[in-house]
Amino acid sequence: MADRHDPTELIADPGVLEASPLLELGGWRGVEQREGVCILPWRADWLSARARKLEAYPDAESLGPEPFNQALVHLQKSRDATWNDLRTAWQRLETGGRLLFCGGNDLGIVSAVKRLARELDQAPQILSNRRRARIVSFERPPNPCLEPTAPDTHRLCLPWPGGDPLEVEAAAGVFSARKIDSGTEMLLSALRDHGGKPDTIFDLGCGIGCLGLVALKQWPDAQATMADGDARAIASAERNAQHLGVAERCRIIWWDAREAFPDQAADLVLLNPPFHTGRAVDLEPAREMFKRAGESLRPGGTALIVANRTLPYERDLEAVGRLQTLTESRHYKLLSLRRRSRSSSSSKAHSPGRRSSGRS
Ligand SMILES: C[S@@+](CC[C@H](N)C(=O)[O-])C[C@H]1O[C@@H](n2cnc3c(N)ncnc32)[C@H](O)[C@@H]1O
Repeated sequence: MADRHDPTELIADPGVLEASPLLELGGWRGVEQREGVCILPWRADWLSARARKLEAYPDAESLGPEPFNQALVHLQKSRDATWNDLRTAWQRLETGGRLLFCGGNDLGIVSAVKRLARELDQAPQILSNRRRARIVSFERPPNPCLEPTAPDTHRLCLPWPGGDPLEVEAAAGVFSARKIDSGTEMLLSALRDHGGKPDTIFDLGCGIGCLGLVALKQWPDAQATMADGDARAIASAERNAQHLGVAERCRIIWWDAREAFPDQAADLVLLNPPFHTGRAVDLEPAREMFKRAGESLRPGGTALIVANRTLPYERDLEAVGRLQTLTESRHYKLLSLRRRSRSSSSSKAHSPGRRSSGRS
């Protein structure tokens, strides 16, 4: 958030916020200045807000019924996620309430505001426009017949060697919501060839659950812990686990990679790690996940990791186990990490404390 052209700086400009409590979606800087509530599906943001003693929830379902007089939506990289937030904010406003929309030119705030103006059939009021960012407002009329167009949940088919492809859902705006990621597909084919019979599987950065859920179908006696930092993805993963009949055998948690992992001792860890935070390349969450994988593997256990070929993960992975490249394609590489034997890792092994990181 300390970016040189951080659009959230504009929130403090005169005339942007009124004195009344604010509903804020996708950020918390406004609620820090006024009372109110923020909706933060990314656990790292939610943790930051809670550390500042702000009222924060992962989704809007946790809100009470009272409408707000002002709601602020942050433009995100995902248009679908942004439009979902705009619709939620619009529906939560009282008549005459203001919908504030904030973002930087780099993410396309100008075209996003034009689209919203068309959908609401209303000219925006520009409240602040500087430092390559802007905040605009729209007013909610009595009984509005228009609202921001909310994107649909997507339906996808997961390849599964044991039978017909598995149908899953992906909430709009989550990772690879419209199409199964090619890296995910590569790891899924490695699952088919994986010789072991794991009892305990961890899927770190599980998204909508593609890897962990197929693994549970493949090994009907296995249990899985699946974790992701995006509450929208977690909600889809929970519904997918129910739909595929494996919910009893998995624990799905809202977890940020910088937190300790609440379970230990996996036979198989599945990893298709993130390498972006917002638009910026950020390898830190992946590195944290590698550490968690190293800490969690039982002696003899394996982590399967898929990554873009160009990403320099080898050194980090070699620090936590024995690394092998299983396959490479034009764009991806598939790596296998085996935990070092106890004697070589014993004194440095770190056991994370058990801590609840379930959705709150
Ligand atoms: C490349 S996607 C893989 C998703 C899924 N495993 C698959 O293969 O389809 C990486 C996942 O990591 C999650 N993620 C990103 N940053 C995270 C963080 N700091 N902590 C936990 N999960 C994170 C994203 O929400 C995303 O679902």
